[in-house]
Amino acid sequence: MSDSSVDEVYSNSPVVLITGCSTGLGRALVLEAASQGLRVIATARKISTIENLRAPNITVSTLDVTASMSQLEDFANKALKVFGQVDILINNAGYPLAGALEEVSSDQTLAIFNTNFFGSLNVSNVFLPHFRARRSGTIINISSMMPYISTPGSGSYTATKAALDSITQVWAHELAPLKIKVMGVSLGFTRTELLGTNLSTVENTVKNPIPDYANVRAFHEQVRALHGHEPNDVQKVAKRILDVVLTHDELPVMFPLGNDAVTSADEYLNQRRSEFEKWKELGMGVDADKDV
Ligand SMILES: NC(=O)c1ccc[n+]([C@@H]2O[C@H](COP(=O)([O-])OP(=O)(O)OC[C@H]3O[C@@H](n4cnc5c(N)ncnc54)[C@H](OP(=O)(O)O)[C@@H]3O)[C@@H](O)[C@H]2O)c1
Repeated sequence: MSDSSVDEVYSNSPVVLITGCSTGLGRALVLEAASQGLRVIATARKISTIENLRAPNITVSTLDVTASMSQLEDFANKALKVFGQVDILINNAGYPLAGALEEVSSDQTLAIFNTNFFGSLNVSNVFLPHFRARRSGTIINISSMMPYISTPGSGSYTATKAALDSITQVWAHELAPLKIKVMGVSLGFTRTELLGTNLSTVENTVKNPIPDYANVRAFHEQVRALHGHEPNDVQKVAKRILDVVLTHDELPVMFPLGNDAVTSADEYLNQRRSEFEKWKELGMGVDADKDV
């Protein structure tokens, strides 16, 4: 197919840009979006990991989401020239970190925030001028159900996703008047390399485990045993995300995805509600005296 006929076939389809496409959900999203006829800009830290995704409606590009703002701005300017626009940005890049909050080094905590939180914030910020100018655009933040369960042994990772959920909720208010949509996906356990090789790298495990944290070790054993048996299928997850985004004018700000995530969100909301009811009286009655 020549470039001009490719342009004609896909010229009216939305353009989606996805971070972290070397494996797992990012890769599944690229394949699903392309199969639905979207134009896709697939990105990864190492271009060699996504070269084989190239197709008439898939462009591949290098992107480390921890790059400096000026590098990210250069990236956005080039990405916007590929198809002339970006309609949907999917902040998918992320990695896990296993360890009690006390065991994880401050460098490890900074590094995971750099990717999982600042990566999504900064990449979004370099595309927002384009979205604002067009009064159109959708940001999808791939978060996790972990903020709903706050399990021992995943505190740093959970904190990055909770922070991401916070900015998703603020953006929903800030960007709605500009006709820009935002959705956070509170994803349940999904069969990818997240709990496999990516949980076991030297950088993502603690150097000096503290014996007192038996509950943390037990959780890690459970999670390692879960790898390969995660309840959610990555291709179905990718399809559901895109189906929701492409077929609904109004998006949920927070979208628990996977039966495990829906159950966890339900329990979390019930617990928060019953705790709130029990304590709310004590939270009231501290008004300042009326100004005279
Ligand atoms: N799988 C689950 O159970 C699960 C559950 C809840 C949420 N999530 C979230 O889903 C998203 C995708 O994870 P996954 O399950 O598909 O795991 P995965 O297979 O490990 O994929 C993670 C991707 O993130 C990329 N990445 C990491 N650091 C990056 C950086 N600095 N710049 C650009 N890309 C980077 C990795 O690329 P490299 O190959 O270069 O490392 C990889 O492509 C993550 O945000 C994760 O937190 C997953």
